[in-house]
Amino acid sequence: MSDSAPDPRLDTLRRQLPGLRLTTDPAELEHYGRDWTRRWVPAPLAIALPTSVDEVQAIVRWANAEGVAIVPSGGRTGLSGGAVAASGELVLSLERMSKVIGFDAVDRTLTVQAGIPLQAAQDAAREHGLQYPVDFAARGSCSIGGNIATNAGGIRVLRYGNTREWIAGLTLVTGSGELLELGRSLVKNSSGYDLRHLAIASEGTLGIVVEASLKLTDPPPPTNVMLLALPSFEALMQVFEAFRSRLQLQAFEFFTDLALKHVLAHGAQAPFAEVHPFYVVTEFASDEASEAEALAAFEQCMEQGLVSDGVISGSDAQAAQLWRLREGITESLARYVPYKNDVSVRLSAMPAFLAEAQSLLAKEYPQFEVVWFGHIGDGNLHINILKPDGLALEAFVADCERVTKLLASTLQAHGGSISAEHGIGLVKKPYLGCTRSDAEIAAMRGIKAVLDPNGIMNPGKLFD
Ligand code: FAD
Ligand code: MLT
Ligand code: ZN
Repeated sequence: MSDSAPDPRLDTLRRQLPGLRLTTDPAELEHYGRDWTRRWVPAPLAIALPTSVDEVQAIVRWANAEGVAIVPSGGRTGLSGGAVAASGELVLSLERMSKVIGFDAVDRTLTVQAGIPLQAAQDAAREHGLQYPVDFAARGSCSIGGNIATNAGGIRVLRYGNTREWIAGLTLVTGSGELLELGRSLVKNSSGYDLRHLAIASEGTLGIVVEASLKLTDPPPPTNVMLLALPSFEALMQVFEAFRSRLQLQAFEFFTDLALKHVLAHGAQAPFAEVHPFYVVTEFASDEASEAEALAAFEQCMEQGLVSDGVISGSDAQAAQLWRLREGITESLARYVPYKNDVSVRLSAMPAFLAEAQSLLAKEYPQFEVVWFGHIGDGNLHINILKPDGLALEAFVADCERVTKLLASTLQAHGGSISAEHGIGLVKKPYLGCTRSDAEIAAMRGIKAVLDPNGIMNPGKLFD
């Protein structure tokens, strides 16, 4: 344990902020230097864990003076390498800035420090009889700051939208150390550029989100969860339409038999006696009228051969069991260091894109397990390629990148995005141009130059 590294730049920081927790302990460098990608070897200069906005500003000013790059760090559950520190950066963890600052019943906002875990924010909203509706499996460990920086989606986007819709205001320490209060929780504000939306999905490249005001809404109705078994990929969008046209859906998620195989191997319970190629988890209000509509949609799909089996939750425990089949996928695949594609197209383009992507990946990946799942109701597919145990990571990634180039062209042809919700980070940087035009990327660079003139904020992420 070496808490007093010899680096003179760190000595300066220690002198400037004697109360700051700053560590160079090797185990902590390793812990804070990586995210869920596990692809890069962590090599940060040090880890800073500030407890106040003033400390964050002082760290940014020090970093500008010393020419040190900063990697903002939340829960490091990111899946695209955005929080990776592999090149001597200072990791600025928001872990010790995780409090609820305030609640306003009239505005229906919850103001939090950015390091608060998503689940803690959801719980705080619930204590006030309201709901913060962004939700996904990493809720216990990801942070609101990380959610904002990636514009996180999740399992209820179909009903409630992405993180972007729920940020009433945020406070940003820019790359030059300025404090910007953006949005101010005003419902209406037509007074120029809405800089709040530049910070959202900026992946820590413009500054550090230190606080946020979250919009809250009415709690959800009591719900039923239904698991459907489908015979084919082609049936997916038709089943979605059958349910969506009759019901207000809270979620519509899909996964394949291969995904289910891994979740079951991880301890979940098989939902049906037989194996089916595709599954959908959907959720809707449990009132009588909604249940009747759901059953009618189910019967219609059965008659049309679009669905081959189904089960509806009879209790909260059963609902949780059904959700586990979908939410447990990422964890069950983690040991295979999966190469993750996180793509989206418009719903109208989904059937054609699905057909092309399926045949492309079947042809290009005969040697790998390819696991499909995701938020099909939002036009968002997660395609995970699993690394065989004996294959070196570099060779595996090289092969996946070759195929991702082809997939990116298919996406471009269908007007899609190479990152629906995980961000570009390091993983998808080479493919940004399939989603954004040269002019757009040039504009993004220009914005970065204004807010982060010395390029200290998360350099090498999103673009070079
Ligand atoms: P980190 O991984 O720490 O950081 C992510 C990015 O945000 C980095 O670029 C980092 O520099 C930046 N950042 C972090 N905090 C700040 C800050 N305060 N200010 C500025 N920049 C900051 N994502 C989805 O969208 N939908 C899902 O359904 C989903 N499910 C997941 C399930 C599992 C099991 C796991 C492991 C991940 C899942 N993710 C999902 C991905 C991940 O949880 C999200 O991207 C999440 O928003 C990341 O939050 P974090 O706090 O862990 O961020
Ligand atoms: C999910 O939808 O489960 C997440 O985005 C995580 C993943 O893609 O692995
Ligand atoms: Zn997802």
